[in-house]
Amino acid sequence: MKIVDEERIRVMEGEWSPTDVIRQIVESGTQEDPFYVMDIGEVVARYHRWRELMPRVEPFYAVKCNDEKLLVTTLAALGTGFDCASKAEIELVTSIGVKPDRIIFANPAKMASHIRYSSAAGVNTMTFDSETELLKIKQYMPHAQLVIRIRCDAAEAQCPLGIKFGCDPVSEAPRLLKLAAVLGLEVVGVSFHVGSGARSGGAYARGVRLARALFAAGGHRLALLDLGGGFPGGRGCSLAEVASEINTALETHFPSRSVRVIAEPGRYFAAAAYTLATMVHAKREVTPKEGEDELHTMYFVNDGVYGSFNCVLYDHQVVACELLTPSSEPPQPCSVWGPSCDGLDCILGAARLPALRTGSWLVWRDMGAYTIPVASPFNGFPVPRVRAVIDHKLWSVLKELWPLTEAHFAIGERMTGPQQSPSPSPGTPDPDPALAPAIHHAVFVECALK
Ligand SMILES: Cc1ncc(COP(=O)(O)O)c(C=O)c1O
Repeated sequence: MKIVDEERIRVMEGEWSPTDVIRQIVESGTQEDPFYVMDIGEVVARYHRWRELMPRVEPFYAVKCNDEKLLVTTLAALGTGFDCASKAEIELVTSIGVKPDRIIFANPAKMASHIRYSSAAGVNTMTFDSETELLKIKQYMPHAQLVIRIRCDAAEAQCPLGIKFGCDPVSEAPRLLKLAAVLGLEVVGVSFHVGSGARSGGAYARGVRLARALFAAGGHRLALLDLGGGFPGGRGCSLAEVASEINTALETHFPSRSVRVIAEPGRYFAAAAYTLATMVHAKREVTPKEGEDELHTMYFVNDGVYGSFNCVLYDHQVVACELLTPSSEPPQPCSVWGPSCDGLDCILGAARLPALRTGSWLVWRDMGAYTIPVASPFNGFPVPRVRAVIDHKLWSVLKELWPLTEAHFAIGERMTGPQQSPSPSPGTPDPDPALAPAIHHAVFVECALK
């Protein structure tokens, strides 16, 4: 397998943190574009935590959450399965070398050509929640192993999914199971999804109980229970509470180990591993309106809601930033905007930050879920590049875990940004004055205005 430079993971020696890596990159060259630092160690730690807390539940990573090849390869090396939503996702996962029996095609409304592709690739397990889907599967892949998706919503979720998918477990599921039997299709399991970024409040336990009722209904040899996604992803969140709810429900309703239990976590594995760095490239001071006594500063950064911060719009994420260089100045009212010319491109409408200058860098944590695959280069601003890192202690273990290989790692090199060429060639635009000489430049302008 050829590894391109972007797919290489830097091995970090000594003490370090993602913020240290960002600082190293920013200080090393003329870094102007936003970028991510992805800590492979966070993914590994989360995998271990999952296995420790829910040994019975096999994670099938939901690729849609973040389809970055290094993340998928790392999870493949750790031994997870994969939840794919489309032909392209199946293509990606199998191209890494993952066997098709480690994939579930978990989109209940599939295109015919994607079903045919799944069949050709040997991905046999797929979900459904409607009569039409059953008829389509009968036509294109009659040997499929089907998983019925039932609706079971958490009371609160960042992104509710029940409005789109999942048949009613009582009024619809038994009828669909009967139809599948009449069509000669094999249903092997039951799945649900409580909603992404869910506060379970007992939703997983309810889903397990509803699935149990369908297992008892007969007509098919059901042996697979799929708990879907919805697991918490941020650094401040704990998996323990949800794990305890699930373990208790499994012991109550599925005590027999003959039933295989899987789940489709996305956010859980992706969110905390990615830290985004953005740079302030412009600012505008807004004169207070009547009745307001504080000045409001608008900061413009090089990534916005058409890029990584699409998660603010689509994933309903609440994002927060820290300054790369801590400041002792008091926080002041401000807002943070993306680089495009669209007024919708607002990341933080009302924030309080110490005064920033152009060239200041902001650090955004927990940015790995539903950001990169959704981002677009609208207005010509590039989607941030990912710089992957790993601690040297972990590297020595991971490099032995196929499909990761020694070739995936870069050792002994410092992280750098793009390097400044000694003398700009003709036609090369001048370096942005917002970079190195920012302080002098700002001071000069302030003096000129006085
Ligand atoms: C079928 C399915 N499984 C799993 C997931 C992943 O959910 P989460 O990221 O909340 O774990 C999703 C997200 O939309 C999904 O649609």
